[in-house]
Formats: sequence, structure tokens, C-alpha cells
Amino acid sequence: MPQRKLRRFTAFLRGHLRANLGPLALGAVGIGGYAAAELLAPWPLKVILDHVLLQKPLPTLFHRLEGALRSRPEFSIVLLSSAILVIAAVKGGFAYLQVFLTSRIGYELVHKLRQELFRHLQRLSLSFHHGTRAGDLLAKITSDTSVLKDVFASGLLELLGHALTLAGMCAVLIVLNGRLALIAAVTLPLLCWTIFTIYRRGKRSARRQREREGRVAAHIGEVLHLTPLVRAFARERLEEERFAKESAETLDESIRTARVEAAASRTVELVNAFGVWAAVLFGALLALWREITPGDLLVFSAYLSAMYKPLRHLAKLSTQFSKAMASAERIEQILATEADDANRVGGIDPGCLRGDIEFDNVTFSYPGGTPVLRNLSFRILPGEHVALAGGSGAGKSTIANLLLRFYQPQSGVIRVDGKDIREFDGEAYRRQIGLVMQDSLLFGATVAENLAYGKPEATRAEIENAARWSAAHDFIAALPNGYDTILTERAATLSGGQRQRLCLTRAFLKRPSLLLLDEPTAAVDAESASLIHQSIAALQRGRTALMIAHHFTHMDQFDRVLVLRNGQLAESGSHAELLHRKGPYWELFQLQQIHGMEAVAR
Ligand SMILES: Nc1ncnc2c1ncn2[C@@H]1O[C@H](COP(=O)(O)OP(=O)(O)OP(=O)(O)O)[C@@H](O)[C@H]1O
Ligand SMILES: [Mg+2]
Repeated sequence: MPQRKLRRFTAFLRGHLRANLGPLALGAVGIGGYAAAELLAPWPLKVILDHVLLQKPLPTLFHRLEGALRSRPEFSIVLLSSAILVIAAVKGGFAYLQVFLTSRIGYELVHKLRQELFRHLQRLSLSFHHGTRAGDLLAKITSDTSVLKDVFASGLLELLGHALTLAGMCAVLIVLNGRLALIAAVTLPLLCWTIFTIYRRGKRSARRQREREGRVAAHIGEVLHLTPLVRAFARERLEEERFAKESAETLDESIRTARVEAAASRTVELVNAFGVWAAVLFGALLALWREITPGDLLVFSAYLSAMYKPLRHLAKLSTQFSKAMASAERIEQILATEADDANRVGGIDPGCLRGDIEFDNVTFSYPGGTPVLRNLSFRILPGEHVALAGGSGAGKSTIANLLLRFYQPQSGVIRVDGKDIREFDGEAYRRQIGLVMQDSLLFGATVAENLAYGKPEATRAEIENAARWSAAHDFIAALPNGYDTILTERAATLSGGQRQRLCLTRAFLKRPSLLLLDEPTAAVDAESASLIHQSIAALQRGRTALMIAHHFTHMDQFDRVLVLRNGQLAESGSHAELLHRKGPYWELFQLQQIHGMEAVAR
């Protein structure tokens, strides 16, 4: 069942392991050598005990060595005991090879997986991003990927190594004495069952723990993001308590996971001790009855205690695997989310747009919401400057979202330059649009870098010029480092109007074929607003501009005003015409005259 569920993840993992077949094979050699050295370890002592001290005959294969052992026992002892050192050194060398190689594969896995996740997230729909907590995604990209690091390369090889060691030990034991091997084998199914049960419990617990950790990360992110709000509403203590509660839940779950882990090791130890007890008891009896040599008993008990190590490792690996599976499931949730059709790459490159916009019978509702736009039709001709007016929640920003292809209408078609915008390559199409959003979104980078976000190759002169057009140059020049001032995240050190003017500069700088402005002058003083309106008129001459307006102060500068009401076009015409007609636009205008902005916003 998990294999089916983790389809994307396993495909990714398989690809990665296949690309690293060479190092993996070398790692397997390392682990094989390690296992062989582990098997050889007790043998020098056995030979010393049985064949040098007790002078028992060697097996026929080594008959020729018997003379040498007998005639020079001291030398043989020196040689055989040195073999212990050599075996240890060889074992260390092989282990180093394996650990080094698998760690590299593991780190590369994390690196590639993070890239893949980040790339995939860039392509997922805005509805996905709106419905997901950023902090949880952050936890998935950073910590869940690192959980996987140790497991899938080194873990898999270690598993192989331990299995090899165990199989080798069993084989040697069978050759030495079948009955002894049987005693050891009795404990094995018991151990396997224990490990499997622990794995299942561990996985459940690890999944809950990872989820809780994601929730804690998301909470931290949100509170830090909204610190001014928390402070203004004096919610610090409440937030602390909420955080403490969430963190405590994570703590409980972590402790539970640790307990499962500890129980795993101890259980394996106990089962193992039981095996050793049986083997020593029966082994000693067999030696007493001369069915086996004391050297055999030595190898036997050495193996049984050595078995404990790979088994304990297996138990530990099983808890590691359970954590990794929980993380893999969380990562799969992202990978399995299909990239949004609206964000599809490929399609026609529209080149320079003429700016002929047509909404043809468009009906749209946000996922799970009621219809925002109902059978909406309108057309904006190339080069026309149009203002979009309407009460709050009327669907003005939604029109901008649809035009940007952030969302797909449920029915109807949006055409630009006569073509359904779904046919365009998303990136190439959006490159033609200059956008100023209702929220001023800026990066924690320098002012110049922020301004050139849509045109990285812009020269400083171009940037300054664009800033002059949007009445931003003066305040930028007055900043401590001018255009090289580093903004904090969300540009919290700037005023709302300043931020808005930066966003406007960013849009102007692109010289877009289509300018889309959502309330660009809402937080700007009257003088700057007037300058900005003049700039829009000058810069967009011959190019289309669509502006969502709340202030009705500069409406006479637009060729046409579209008025939206209940998701439909209520009326359309020039500012003067609409005022004269005394329809919905006139009502909005009156409200604003009487009550100011707030009344409209309400
Ligand atoms: N991402 C979203 N998911 C679900 N519903 C949304 C989303 N964005 C907006 N809405 C809903 O769609 C409707 C129209 O919103 P929209 O943002 O287009 O209004 P608006 O005309 O721009 O309003 P304002 O003047 O206040 O900016 C509102 O009822 C709003 O609740
Ligand atoms: Mg809006």
C-alpha cells in the first residue's frame, strides 16, 4: 500500500539511485568486505585455541599447515594474534569506504529533492498555496528532506550489510554444527516479528510527530510575520500559550517516538540474550560431550554476541525507516499534487501584445466558493485606458487574477489579442504584463534589485528614470544607501505609500504591453497620485492599461470606466457620461463624496 501511495517519491528515489549505481556498487563492495571481516574476526582465536594449544588436527584442506603450527607454536601465536589487528584494519577501511560513499549519495539526494520540491511548488496553483500553510511547506522542504538523508543510501546498504553478516554467520554455524545453528535460528523469527511491530508503531508515531512539527513551524512563521498585529492587539501572551501548547504536543509525540525507539533496542537485546543463553548452555554441554571443540564454542558464542550488533542496528534502522517513510509521505503530498493547468508551461509565445482584452461570458468562483463573476462580458480595445470601479468584494481583483491566468474561469473565455489566453505559454504571457497588486509585495533585497525584478538587465539609469515617473526617486535617494539600501522582508521600514510607489516603478520598468494596476494610488498623497496618473497616461500611450480604482479623483483621465456590481457589468462609459446617467457609478461617486473612501470600502 505505501508503495502505491508513494509513487512520485519512489520514482524520484529510483532515478537518483540509478544515477548513482557506480558509487552504490562500490559501497556494496565496502559493505561486503565489512561483513566478511566481521565473520573472520573470531577465527584467529579459535585456531590458536583448538589447533595450537589443544593440538587438534586441522581440516584436510589445511593439512599442510599443521606441521608449521606444531613446530613453531610461538611464531604461530604471534602471527595469528596479529591477524586480529589486520582484520580490524580491513574492516575499518571497508566501513570508511561505505560510509563516505553513501553519505555523499544521501546529501545529493537531499539537494536534488529540495530542488525538485521547490520547482514543483513554483508550478502549483495559487489555490494550493492559499490553502497551505507556508511554514509547513518550509518544514517539508528543509527538515523532512534531511530526515531522508541517512536512510535511503546508507540505510539501504547497511541493511544489505547486516543481512549479509547474518546470513554468513548462519552459514558458518550450520557448517560448524547444525544443532547449534538451530538453537540460534529459533530466536530469529521472534526478532523479526519484534522489529516489524516496532517499525509499524514507530511509523505511526513519527508521522504524527512530523505533522505536529510542521504545524509548529507554520505557527512560528505566521506569528513572526504578523508581529505588529500581535503586538497591537496585545495578544503576545495568548500567542505564547498557543505556541507552548502546540510545542508541548510535539514534545509528547517526540517522547513517544523516542520511547518506541528505546523499547526497540532493549527488546532486541533481551531476545538476543535469550539466544546467547540457550547457545552457551547447549554449546557447553556439546563441548563437554566432545561433539564440538572449545574453539567451535568460542566462534559460536562470538557470533551470537556479534549477531546482536546487526540486529540492534536493524531495529534502529527500522525506526529510522519509519521516520523516513513518514517524511516521504509528507513529501509525496506535494509531489503528487498536479501542477495547475493554468500554470502550464509550453504553448504559444504571444510576443508583444497589442492589448486587446475580451471577457466573453465568463463565470468564475474560487474553489469551494460562490460565484464571484457571472456571465461577465466586456472588451477593452488596444491602447485603451480603462478604470474598473465597483464596491468592495465586487470581483475587481478577481478580474485581474483571471487575466493573469492565476485561476481558470469555470465557463466562458478570456481572449487577449483574439486568442484564448489558455493557449499562451504562462511565463511568456505574464512577462508582457506589468502588475501592481493590491498588497505591495517586496523582497528582502536592495531597492534596485526589487525594482529590476521583472527586468534584471535594467541599467541604473533606466531604474532611476522609472522611479521618477512613479514619484519614487526623491524618497529613494533620501534613503541611507539610496538605491542600494537593503529592504527588510516585506519592506517594513517603508511607508505604505512608498511601498506602493516601488511596486509601481517595478511595473513601469518592464514597459509592459499591458499594465494592470490594482489601486496603485490608494496610499499615496494627492500630489504624487496626480503625478502617477500623468505618468500612466504618458508611459502607456498606445498601450493598454486597466486600473482598478477606489478613489474617483482622476477618473476623467481614463477613456472608459467599467462598473462592476454583483459579478456583472453594471455599466460602462466615460466618467462624464456615467455621472450624467446617474446610474450605479453615480451612486458610488456620491457615496464617496459624502462619506469618503470608507463608505465605499464598506
Ligand atoms: N483566494 C480567494 N479564495 C476564495 N475566495 C476569494 C479569494 N479572493 C477573493 N475571494 C472572494 O471573491 C470575492 C471578490 O473578491 P475580489 O478580491 O475580487 O474583490 P474586489 O472587488 O477586489 O474587492 P476590494 O475592492 O475590496 O479589493 C470576495 O467575496 C472574496 O471573498
Ligand atoms: Mg481588490
